[in-house]
Amino acid sequence: MNESTMNDQSALSPDARGDATATEDRPEAAGTGKPLPADALIIVPVRNVVLFPGMVFPLTVGRERSRAAAYEAARQQRPLGVLLQSKPETEQPGPDDLHWVGTTANVLRYITAPDGAHHAICQGVQRFRVLQFLEGYPFMAARVELVPEPAQTDPDIEGRAHGLKARAAEILALLPQVPDEVATSLQGIEGPARLADFIAGLMDIGADEKQSLLETFDLKARLDKLLELLAHRIEVLKVSRDVAERTKGSLDDLQRKHLLREQMRTIQKELGEGEEGAAELAELDKAITAAKMPEEVEKQARKELKRLERMPEGAGEYSMIRTYLDWLIELPWAAATEAPIDIAEARRILDEDHYGLEKIKKRILEYLAVRKLNPSGKSPILCFAGPPGVGKTSLGQSIAKATGRKFERLSLGGVHDEAEIRGHRRTYIGSLPGNVIQSLRKAGTRHCVLMLDEVDKLGAGGFHGDPASALLEVLDPEQNSTFRDNYLGVPFDLSGVMFICTANVLDTIPGPLRDRMEIITLPGYTAQEKLQIARRYLVARQLRATGLSPAQSEIGDDALMAIIDDYTREAGVRNLEREIGNVLRNVAVRIAEGGTERVTIGRDDLAAILGPRKFEAEVAMRGGVSGVATGLAWTPVGGDILFIEATRMPGNGKLILTGQLGDVMKESAQAALSLLKGRAERLGIAAEALEKSDVHVHVPAGATPKDGPSAGVAMFVALASLFTGRIVRNDVAMTGEISLRGLVLPIGGVKEKVLAALRAGITTVMLPARNQRDLEDIPADARGKLEIVWVDNVDDAVAVALSPAQAGVESVAS
Ligand SMILES: Nc1ncnc2c1ncn2[C@@H]1O[C@H](COP(=O)(O)OP(=O)(O)OP(=O)(O)O)[C@@H](O)[C@H]1O
Ligand SMILES: [Mg+2]
Repeated sequence: MNESTMNDQSALSPDARGDATATEDRPEAAGTGKPLPADALIIVPVRNVVLFPGMVFPLTVGRERSRAAAYEAARQQRPLGVLLQSKPETEQPGPDDLHWVGTTANVLRYITAPDGAHHAICQGVQRFRVLQFLEGYPFMAARVELVPEPAQTDPDIEGRAHGLKARAAEILALLPQVPDEVATSLQGIEGPARLADFIAGLMDIGADEKQSLLETFDLKARLDKLLELLAHRIEVLKVSRDVAERTKGSLDDLQRKHLLREQMRTIQKELGEGEEGAAELAELDKAITAAKMPEEVEKQARKELKRLERMPEGAGEYSMIRTYLDWLIELPWAAATEAPIDIAEARRILDEDHYGLEKIKKRILEYLAVRKLNPSGKSPILCFAGPPGVGKTSLGQSIAKATGRKFERLSLGGVHDEAEIRGHRRTYIGSLPGNVIQSLRKAGTRHCVLMLDEVDKLGAGGFHGDPASALLEVLDPEQNSTFRDNYLGVPFDLSGVMFICTANVLDTIPGPLRDRMEIITLPGYTAQEKLQIARRYLVARQLRATGLSPAQSEIGDDALMAIIDDYTREAGVRNLEREIGNVLRNVAVRIAEGGTERVTIGRDDLAAILGPRKFEAEVAMRGGVSGVATGLAWTPVGGDILFIEATRMPGNGKLILTGQLGDVMKESAQAALSLLKGRAERLGIAAEALEKSDVHVHVPAGATPKDGPSAGVAMFVALASLFTGRIVRNDVAMTGEISLRGLVLPIGGVKEKVLAALRAGITTVMLPARNQRDLEDIPADARGKLEIVWVDNVDDAVAVALSPAQAGVESVAS
């Protein structure tokens, strides 16, 4: 009975081996390594101790790998896997130096002894078998399979357990020093498996013999082995009884009693108070009734509760079942009564929270009206698509407010594993429900708006199953009333949840998922719209955040406009709000210092607060060169302008392309050059000039990959300018695909591109004539400020974009 003092002694005091300083920081780095698979355990090898389920003992973590393991287990709140070394003398045991069957252990607490040695007080939980050791971690790790104990017993087993108890009592009687409590707690142990492990842990036999008991999974065989061992022990004890009696009353006796009392205390704690346990079970029973589960679920819950009743509280499975029952109890099973949607009120709330967005609000109200008139109908899933900071999330919150629902957000960005959505089976160590069920528990009601953020960043399906197909099941009204989470194992009705998705781009959303959704695009705001949003919402909100009152501070419209133009360049309003916050915090400091009562911020004050302008009108910087044209691009974060630069050098007609261009964009450059060759005469370019030059086309900002055909016109204009020497007007931007016959073909993202041009200070935008149908998408104030030229072919484009051929300017053609 010396387990409580056993540990891997020889691993003690790393200082003695002189490696302490070299390895002190190592455990910190463990956290940055690759993640452990869900079915893996962090392994700690020990010498001389076999940990049985239920047993508590102090593990000395001396070896650096053991320390890394203990640190990592504490950080991830994972159990440890304790394995016995087959060769205790080995300093750095590898897989071959270990027994492959061990026990998972929860670390109850860490202790650092005065001499600096670290101890982890562990409690054994459950047997496991190693499937495979894993490489590449600063500690040992292995994929494992848990070995469950049979929940059912039979008369054979019961009989043996009974005999075991009797023999153990007999042994205790032969040891007169043993306090009565040990015998009492032995009687209190429930379940044959638990009893066997308890006795095996206490027995004074060699580690190898204990390991063989641990590895005997078959309960009946294990009980037989133990019975045999106990019988042998009794014989030995009977023989040495006289000796024992002679040593009675010695100092040793006192020490032994002390030791046993210590163990007694741990055992009692481990077993819990019987009274408390019963009360807990009764409470669970009540909670199950109160949760109003569907019949099938309630049956399952009661079945698990029964298992719990039969199980001793300290058993490893106990806490697993307990957690599972907690999940079942806390999920919102009860159907929520949906208050009818008040459309007028919804309109008021949407208007109150968001400026503009008329088309979008109208679409949302239609959606709500349909839901109101036909609540049981299969309504489509809304998906808000657009650049960051345009109000996707906050529209979702408004919808929740307008319908009196709770709002929950679930980010899908980087979700790679189906199990993240659908949960892990309960047989996995540390398994939990997927994040859909988790969100539902957080919401506390099925009557909620669940926003699925970043559907476009959902990871591709791989080894661990396809998350998109799991999501499909969540969203599909045909299937989601019986959504089955792997952990729960029972159906949960998601049909009352109002799902809303958001995305920055549409083309990365898996096709089938996209088909289920009704896409509503939010393209971004003009400077005027931003000004209104800032005045009505952002300034007020930032005033509240800084604790200022409107009477104390004011930001003038000129200042707001300057922030919009010179300090931010975005489709949404997030940075705008941040900069307004910066300005107001500066004001708050001035007022708090007591120098002044009221501060008004004008345009001229900004440089002192926000620093020099962050964005210049790029266009102005580029004026007056030939061979550079301004194109317009669509990006996931709104539109942007881009410059096409062309230059030439003596050569033989080669085309060099740089700037990380995609294949389509490269082809577009080829087409532009061929088109130019075909029109050389018309443009007054000498054929010889084209033949004897190599052309280099570069699109700066090379770090961002660029692709698509819509820069075709700009490429052609840049090349035409290069070879004619005519300068490209620096206030003109253009977009459009070109054909080899010189036609300008329509493109997408018109609104985003036009807004980007406006932001960059462009005054004339050339768009493909066939995009005229998109005119109404362009906000009126943008149309007022920009001249929009519709072009049919590249000749129109050249006429608008290039300065007239001047006599006097030496053209390449001459
Ligand atoms: N039309 C608007 N009226 C008032 N406030 C707005 C409007 N559009 C956006 N905002 C505000 O801008 C901020 C950013 O919006 P939100 O967080 O909803 O952006 P998002 O589109 O979800 O962006 P992301 O793609 O980065 O998640 C919010 O505080 C929101 O209230
Ligand atoms: Mg958002």
